[in-house]
Amino acid sequence: MHKVVVHKPGSYDRLKVEEHASADPRSGEVRIAVEAIGVNYADVVVRMGLYRSAKEFVGWPITPGFEVAGRIDAIGPDVTCWEIGDEVFGVTLFGGYASQVVLHSSQVFTKPQRFSMIEAAAFPAVGLTAYHAMFNLAHPRAGETILVHSAAGGVGGALVQLGRIAGCQVIGVVGREEKVPVAERLGAHVVICKADQDLWREALRASPGGFEVVFDANGIATLKESYTHLAPTGRLVVYGFHSMMPKKGGRPNWLKLGWDVLRTPRFNPLQMTHENKSVMGFNLSYLFAKLELLHEGLTQLSRWVDDGSFVSPPVQTYALENVAQAHADIESGRTVGKLVLIP
Ligand SMILES: NC(=O)c1ccc[n+]([C@@H]2O[C@H](COP(=O)([O-])OP(=O)(O)OC[C@H]3O[C@@H](n4cnc5c(N)ncnc54)[C@H](OP(=O)(O)O)[C@@H]3O)[C@@H](O)[C@H]2O)c1
Repeated sequence: MHKVVVHKPGSYDRLKVEEHASADPRSGEVRIAVEAIGVNYADVVVRMGLYRSAKEFVGWPITPGFEVAGRIDAIGPDVTCWEIGDEVFGVTLFGGYASQVVLHSSQVFTKPQRFSMIEAAAFPAVGLTAYHAMFNLAHPRAGETILVHSAAGGVGGALVQLGRIAGCQVIGVVGREEKVPVAERLGAHVVICKADQDLWREALRASPGGFEVVFDANGIATLKESYTHLAPTGRLVVYGFHSMMPKKGGRPNWLKLGWDVLRTPRFNPLQMTHENKSVMGFNLSYLFAKLELLHEGLTQLSRWVDDGSFVSPPVQTYALENVAQAHADIESGRTVGKLVLIP
């Protein structure tokens, strides 16, 4: 089998495609012959050595990757729910960039019929992230107005779709003009392009009373204003900090990173109480043991895929050998939808 191994943190040249011996599934496990692998922004942060849970749970060397799709090709003892040849997708806590993946059967799900293998590898991580943010944390009521940053990206695009499903008025924000139609197609009612529009003036125009929910993975670049633009009862859901990261070169700018960490807003509980505003944060990789969250989210998402209410975002594919290009592209901030590796 082939897998991508990062032996020590760094730029794209650290992504080595290596040949390794196949592993056999043990009790409770199955092996997936992988046909497609989802790429997430978090994978580049793992490669740079800045992803805390990767260092805590795995260390070096590490194989990045949170999601795969393929067919079951080996079944361990005591597994009765899967058969050889079943078309599945699986969620991994790292280790997904591989042509074969051994997973506990509780991390494996039937591939939605409406999705190709490529689409099935492209939706679990972003879908689950958006589901958790939307339905476990923000709990929007129908009719509420929500703001989604990076609305043409992986998680952002999924949040747009789930906001629509929740019956919300969805305002999307994107960083480039060509992303506007993508966010619109995914269901955003209004799309603000911050490259050529004043983001917060347009946000006020779209919702003069503020937003009941803002979903923000930019971090320092927008967090303060995202909080300011909450309406009373508003919830700010924080789930990433990508504006601290470089858009090219593959290495962090340590000075900028340190300065951005220092400048990251600290929210004041006294003020939050008086203003009736809340701030929530999460990182799914630390929730992996909560299988009920995983199962509830992916089961519901699969239902919405089946009935056509949750569609695949645009997907761009790369051969596994071109993983460095995929990392450079997602890091650039120019991509839309999802990137998928084909082993
Ligand atoms: N907490 C969790 O459990 C969890 C789980 C999954 C993902 N995440 C986070 O969610 C975010 C999105 O992940 P994704 O995989 O779906 O990626 P993505 O949205 O497909 O790509 C990232 C987008 O962020 C913007 N961006 C990237 N680099 C930037 C920079 N240096 N400065 C400003 N904006 C930048 C760009 O969009 P625009 O320019 O259009 O805004 C880019 O397209 C990431 O921050 C990721 O770490 C968190």
